Amino acid sequence: MKSSIIKVVGVTAFLAAFASPAMADGDAAAGEKVFKKCKACHTLEEGKNKVGPSLHGVIGRAAGAVDGYKYSSAMAESGLTWDDETLAKFLTKPKDLVAKTKMSFAGLKKEDDIENIIAYIKANGG
Ligand code: HEC
Repeated sequence: MKSSIIKVVGVTAFLAAFASPAMADGDAAAGEKVFKKCKACHTLEEGKNKVGPSLHGVIGRAAGAVDGYKYSSAMAESGLTWDDETLAKFLTKPKDLVAKTKMSFAGLKKEDDIENIIAYIKANGG
């Protein structure tokens, strides 16, 4: 019994270390402006899908996992998990990461925009 408690504590510590942001220097306020480019298709509200799925809780979630949203099979089967690294890649050029995604967005060119938008998403329930 005691050893299983130690295991749980160990796993939790591991996850906490893993979840700490690699790009902690993003500016959420600047990211809000960048997010305007996403707003035609996305909200950060839970359960509110538009052309694209709600981005509520997206950090740490498996790609293609919002209930009631119809993803492309490319996204549904991508096997990705959204974290700083995968999001940065996807937002730089969506089709480079998920070739047949139905997200028609060319991508963000500036590294700063990407760091800032990820900070904004994190600060707003994403
Ligand atoms: C023209 C509409 C459109 C725009 C603009 C757009 N997206 Fe998307 N997005 C989509 C669609 C559609 C999907 C679903 C893709 C699929 O199923 O292949 C998606 C999927 C995603 C996903 C994966 C979500 C999941 O649940 O797996 C993320 C993350 C994402 N978009 C972030 C963004 C961000 C951040 C921006 C702004 C920089 C943005 N998108 C701009 C339409 C858009």
